[in-house]
Formats: sequence, structure tokens, C-alpha cells
Amino acid sequence: MAAAAGDSDYFVREIEKNDGCALKVKQCYLGDVGCVVWDAAIVLAKYLETKQFHDPSCGVDVWAGSRVLELGAGTGVVGLMAATLGAQVTVTDLEDLQTLLKVNIQENQALISSGSITAKVLKWGEDVSEFKQPPHYVLMADCIYYEQSIVPLVESLKLLSGPDTCIICCYEQRTEGVNPKVEKQFFELLQQNFSCEEIPLDMQDPEFSSPDIHILHIRKKV
Ligand SMILES: C[S@@+](CC[C@H](N)C(=O)[O-])C[C@H]1O[C@@H](n2cnc3c(N)ncnc32)[C@H](O)[C@@H]1O
Repeated sequence: MAAAAGDSDYFVREIEKNDGCALKVKQCYLGDVGCVVWDAAIVLAKYLETKQFHDPSCGVDVWAGSRVLELGAGTGVVGLMAATLGAQVTVTDLEDLQTLLKVNIQENQALISSGSITAKVLKWGEDVSEFKQPPHYVLMADCIYYEQSIVPLVESLKLLSGPDTCIICCYEQRTEGVNPKVEKQFFELLQQNFSCEEIPLDMQDPEFSSPDIHILHIRKKV
């Protein structure tokens, strides 16, 4: 029987929000790629806070009441940010990541008031009938990296998105090994059914952005 995780199995990363609070995200010393916060997740989380989505001084509050689904959530940092901004969030990943997601939801619950967040299992390419109502936003950070998962990932995006769903995809462009080939395959397949708009750096968080980390808005072709 696997031992229950104790505090010494985790190390914490703090992500400061624009309102002065900080998300405290536990990461694991041991585990697969989802156990740590990737740079693309920080860039995407901070993008969600930019004024086009959230500017209380002008009454802009896109996240309030929005249905948000995160794929390959890992530690859950992106979904947690959305929930603290008022979204109704479901963070999803493989079964192995559910404990970490739940620990991080618990850890940050005090920062979530009008929003909500739940963790669920969603393996790309498998049954998504549980996720009936198309979300307003699908979020994904650093999910384009594994050759075998490209076809199932695009399949899930097709099944989960409605005509009004905006997929916000953030990925780090990597030049080594199979990465360029995997990215090319992903975008070729995606473009059969979706259109993509690249978000320029000046629309992203001025501090947490980088020329090799891309943010795209992806929508189903009508
Ligand atoms: C590189 S990590 C990124 C984690 C997190 N989004 C971040 O950026 O910090 C990729 C994530 O995709 C998840 N993943 C990989 N293959 C998957 C699949 N077939 N179905 C669902 N999730 C998968 C992994 O478990 C992992 O959490």
C-alpha cells in the first residue's frame, strides 16, 4: 500500500496575484511531469489577470461566473488563479495527479470567494460525457509535448468545445529532440477544425511573459 503523502513530500511555490494575495502551490519532489509548476503555467495564470479579462476599476470581470475547464492541470495553478478571479472551474488530469490537485485546492480555498474549483479525472481521448455543458474557456498549459497524446488531445478538444468556447493554450516552444515535430503535428491536426490567434507579448503580463512561451486563443471553425 502506498504511504500517505506528508508535508516533507512537497515543496511550495508562491505565485503573487495582482491583488497582493499569493497562491501557494505545493509541488512534489518525486513524480511525473505534472508534479511541478511549469513556466507556461505561470505565464498563463498571470495572463488571466490582465486587464482585458479582469479590471475591477472599469467593471471588466470576464471570469465572474464563467465555466472554465483546465486540461492537464498538473498542480492546478492555472485553474486556481481562475477560481480566485470568480470562475467556476474544473481542473482535470490523470488519476495520479488527483491527490496533488486536491491538496492545492484545499491549500488555497481561503482565496476563493465567488468562484469555485473541483478536481476530476480526464484522460485525453477518453469518454467526456461527464462534461456535458461546453465550457466558456478551456485552459491548457504545457500540454503539447508528448507524441502519443497529440491525437487524443485534439480529439478531446473537439468533443469538449462548443461554438462559443475559447481554448487558451500556453506552451513553451522547445527546439530540442522531438518537440518541434510534436508541435507541428499538433497544430496541423488542430487547424483542421479550429482557428488559432496568437496573443502578442504586449497583451500578456509584462513581467511573466517570454518570447519562447506562446499564448493562443483557439476556437472551433464554424
Ligand atoms: C508538462 S505537464 C504541465 C502541467 C501543468 N499544466 C503546468 O503547466 O504546470 C503536462 C500535464 O499533462 C498531463 N497529461 C499528460 N498526458 C495526459 C493525458 N493523456 N490525459 C490527461 N492529462 C495528461 C500530465 O499528467 C501533466 O500534468
